[in-house]
Amino acid sequence: MEMGKAKAHAIMISLPHQGHINPFIYLALKLSSKGITVTFVHLESVHHKLLSKLGPQADPFSQARQSGLDIRYTTISDGLPLEFDRDLHFEEHWGAIMRDFPALVDEFVGEMMRSEPDFDYFLMTDTFYPWPPAVASKYNLVNVSFWTQTALTFALPYHWHLLKQNGHFPCKDDMEEKIDYIPGVEPINAKDVMSYLKESGQASIVTKAMAAALDAVKSADLILHNTMLELEPETLSALNEHQPNYAVGPLNFSKSLHSYTVSNSLRSEADCTDWLQSKPPNSVLYVSFGSFVNTTMQVIEELAHGLLLSGVDFVWVIRPGMLSCDDTDVLPEGFGDMIEGKGLIVPWCNQMSVLSNPAVGGFLSHCGWNSTLESMWCGVPMICYPIAYDQTANRKLVIEKWKFGVNLCDGKPLDRMEIAKKIKDFLSGAYSENLRQEASKLKEAMEKALEIDGSSDKTFDQFMEDLKAKMDAKSTKF
Ligand code: UDX
Repeated sequence: MEMGKAKAHAIMISLPHQGHINPFIYLALKLSSKGITVTFVHLESVHHKLLSKLGPQADPFSQARQSGLDIRYTTISDGLPLEFDRDLHFEEHWGAIMRDFPALVDEFVGEMMRSEPDFDYFLMTDTFYPWPPAVASKYNLVNVSFWTQTALTFALPYHWHLLKQNGHFPCKDDMEEKIDYIPGVEPINAKDVMSYLKESGQASIVTKAMAAALDAVKSADLILHNTMLELEPETLSALNEHQPNYAVGPLNFSKSLHSYTVSNSLRSEADCTDWLQSKPPNSVLYVSFGSFVNTTMQVIEELAHGLLLSGVDFVWVIRPGMLSCDDTDVLPEGFGDMIEGKGLIVPWCNQMSVLSNPAVGGFLSHCGWNSTLESMWCGVPMICYPIAYDQTANRKLVIEKWKFGVNLCDGKPLDRMEIAKKIKDFLSGAYSENLRQEASKLKEAMEKALEIDGSSDKTFDQFMEDLKAKMDAKSTKF
């Protein structure tokens, strides 16, 4: 696509985490399928993980490129040595991302523009990064920010000053008080807001990074969201009063991208298909807490016993590092023998393939946004057990607004007997049928939004027009 004097070229930089990489990869495909050249930049540490899993095939876009898309792939350092364990030392990693990474990006962008000057470049970066305005301004680039989560969890920190004015930053962890003044946001209990807005998280590097990032996004030219209009119409419409926001998601399921194959998973996937094949429809509970958050030994133990006592068949993802240490032996002694035939424990799987298997009737989830969207897309109701970040707010939407899920414990300590009862009730009878019907309605709405002329499809076209106008306006300044 020509934007002014030359072909448009997106420089895309995602956060180095699976939950952000997934939507970014599909956004790259989408842009490229519209005729834009894309350079997708992974952090070297992410590329290293891909290399150890896939070898020379680590380039996520090698197959898409063979199908004709102009997506280039390269890497950039985050300022830390490759051998530094970023998963174990999250705070230090983010310290480097805040401190050293911006200069490296600046240098990278400058070098790219010098080496291939015949493009009209623009920046397309994760909203979690605070540095894009400085880089965009230095190189006179249109600055597109991509928020990979819900509009709700964007709107809350976007109005950080209102939270402060009303004494809700930091929020008390157990506060029942309603936050009812954020434009476009239904009243939400203070205890349901994101962990980085709460008292217990306020000293964390994430809070500092988010405060800087949500300030920086105010100067973005355009903001994309991986949600859809039908899910959060009021919030999106209120946000549009301030800046151009575009709900173009969930990008992973865009019909126009089905023919492209990408490798986005950072870990090797166990195949659960044969095991699920032997189970009746809607009988299996899938349990996973995403790629990122940690939990405690006590939680794992209560869950393990709860699952066992429920008598329900289950697939449980226990990923290395789930206990914020390298301990791989986290299950109660003898658990493997006790669940023979009833439960399958895997370190990682292809979640979409599991959720779309007819045997799976429910998802016990931490409510990460990708997991929530994937559950909706597969019409699978959720049992919600949020752990941190945006997950408590997502839980509220799943249960109260979209009504396709239930609480596991609503913030109370886990108890194995209660877990067992909750799981048994959830997977049986009219109760689960109602939830499944709600999930199916959401699935239908999602399919419609992604069809040609559906809301997300049309919004993406609008975004492309507005991007072109912004780039044309910039070009005239040369
Ligand atoms: C992080 C945050 O924790 C989350 O709250 C936020 O909404 C997004 O960024 P994460 O915790 O990894 O993400 O959760 P989620 O958003 O659900 O993303 C996990 C991704 O990993 C999903 O796309 C899921 O399909 C994938 N996954 C998970 C697998 O492919 N295999 C698995 O075994 C588990």
